[in-house]
Amino acid sequence: MADPTSSPSFFLDEAVHDYVISHTTPVDDVQHSLMDATAKLGPVANMQIAPDQGMFLSMLVSAIRPSFAVEVGTFTGYSSLAIARALPEGGRLLCCDVSEEWTAMARRHWSMAGVDDRIDLVIAPAVDTLRALPDDRVVDFAFIDADKTGYLDYYGELVPRLSPHGLIAVDNVLWSGRVVDDLAEGDVDTAALVEFNERVADDDRVEVVLLTVGDGVTLIRRRT
Ligand SMILES: C[S@@+](CC[C@H](N)C(=O)[O-])C[C@H]1O[C@@H](n2cnc3c(N)ncnc32)[C@H](O)[C@@H]1O
Repeated sequence: MADPTSSPSFFLDEAVHDYVISHTTPVDDVQHSLMDATAKLGPVANMQIAPDQGMFLSMLVSAIRPSFAVEVGTFTGYSSLAIARALPEGGRLLCCDVSEEWTAMARRHWSMAGVDDRIDLVIAPAVDTLRALPDDRVVDFAFIDADKTGYLDYYGELVPRLSPHGLIAVDNVLWSGRVVDDLAEGDVDTAALVEFNERVADDDRVEVVLLTVGDGVTLIRRRT
């Protein structure tokens, strides 16, 4: 099986991508095991974030030191592993997904990495999980990476809860560049991402930067 860490990014040619990977902290045995197991699932494995993006999430979380973090869209666990490992003592991660099957692989690798005791996984539509949070629950870090048509709902639930030093990171906001193409009829995911990007950029409550990491990652913080 091909080394999953060598898959080229949409935005970089292969040589530059290889250079990026070889100048980023390498993945460890647990991450390798998770990538190999996920690759065996077939084409859905493309949903997994790339290793450099995982390290980027770990860096953000290490800097923010969240007491409470949320992930919307866990799949087999690569991004949650990156977040959970970087949490400070006592920090917790709430993972939202609808798939028992895919998250079973996540649970196994959380356990292998020794971070399972700091993660709460809720199997339910993420919007229901977020709406069920206590009113006074403050979120210090969130990663949104689930169904694209739900992004605005997740954003709507998370922004009012975001702490002053908190960040929301949102994945796939460039959607392999399709966000700048003419919209194909029935392409609800691209339409949702285009609308999401516009609504967030126009939202006076927040500051935003759209980065060309992975498939495009937007970072959002509340204006203070
Ligand atoms: C792109 S994958 C997440 C990839 C993951 N962040 C990683 O790094 O491997 C999207 C996930 O969102 C989940 N999902 C889809 N619709 C959802 C919903 N309405 N609520 C919660 N999770 C959902 C899917 O089951 C899938 O596991």
